[in-house]
Amino acid sequence: MSDILVETLDGVTTLTLNRVARKNAITADMYALMAGALVDAAADDACRVLVIQGHETIFSAGNDIADFLNNPPAGPQAPVFQFLTGIAAFPKPVLASVCGPAVGIGSTLLLHCDLVYAGDNAVFSMPFVNLGLVPEAASSYMLPQLMGYHRAAEVLLMGEPFMADTALEIGFVNRVLAPTETNAYTQAQAAKMAKKPLSSLTESKRLMKAPQQAHVQEAMKNEGQVFSAMLTAPAAKEAFGAFVEKRRPDFSKL
Ligand code: COA
Repeated sequence: MSDILVETLDGVTTLTLNRVARKNAITADMYALMAGALVDAAADDACRVLVIQGHETIFSAGNDIADFLNNPPAGPQAPVFQFLTGIAAFPKPVLASVCGPAVGIGSTLLLHCDLVYAGDNAVFSMPFVNLGLVPEAASSYMLPQLMGYHRAAEVLLMGEPFMADTALEIGFVNRVLAPTETNAYTQAQAAKMAKKPLSSLTESKRLMKAPQQAHVQEAMKNEGQVFSAMLTAPAAKEAFGAFVEKRRPDFSKL
């Protein structure tokens, strides 16, 4: 079965991360599938609302680290950046259902979703500094705006995770539910939304997003350049090597 499942039913298109054995770590091929699904869903009249979901035990462990080592994204055409620009500009409402760990892009992509429902086991982390990297998905711009600079610095400079209750308090998620109920609740909300007039949904979303759209695109472009350069620099190589070898990284000389 594919690592990304795409299904459209009654106006709701659902993208399911389906690589649970690897904690839904996302490879370049998976980004390409998701980027393609976004293009198709935006153009498809049968899609009125999009849902992104994982499993009740894991949303996503973020980028597949082995894939990063073997197949680092090169330039803005790389599937990861195609996916990010696609989700940031997606015109229809996007709902996310998040249970368990949401690491790296597993958390940053949520900044581009309109409604986020979390299981009470959700753990959000953006540990880019621990990997010798920098934030992506415009999180360097959007996270300080959302939670305030100092809290964002805990997340992005310390790489500290935060839990579902904090996510709710800061407005990162809309509601916290039992993990066994989160996907179903999100689907029910999506079905409710899909019955509303599409023109009203897309225009309302466009108006809410318009004031920050240029900043988001600029941040993503700047981050992408630095991120790509740092992926092959010594700190990231040490971090990825340590992950693969299951040891602690040594940044003492970097
Ligand atoms: N890339 C590649 N493989 C990954 C992965 C990733 N991002 N995350 C997990 N895996 C693999 C593990 O190496 C492990 O493989 P193995 O069975 O061959 O040893 C398998 O998936 C299961 O992961 P494991 O760490 O044993 O699961 P866990 O439940 O103890 O922990 C996480 C889950 C998500 C907390 C943990 O896997 C993790 O921290 N992953 C790395 C996250 C990360 O740094 N992502 C990059 C962000 S930019």
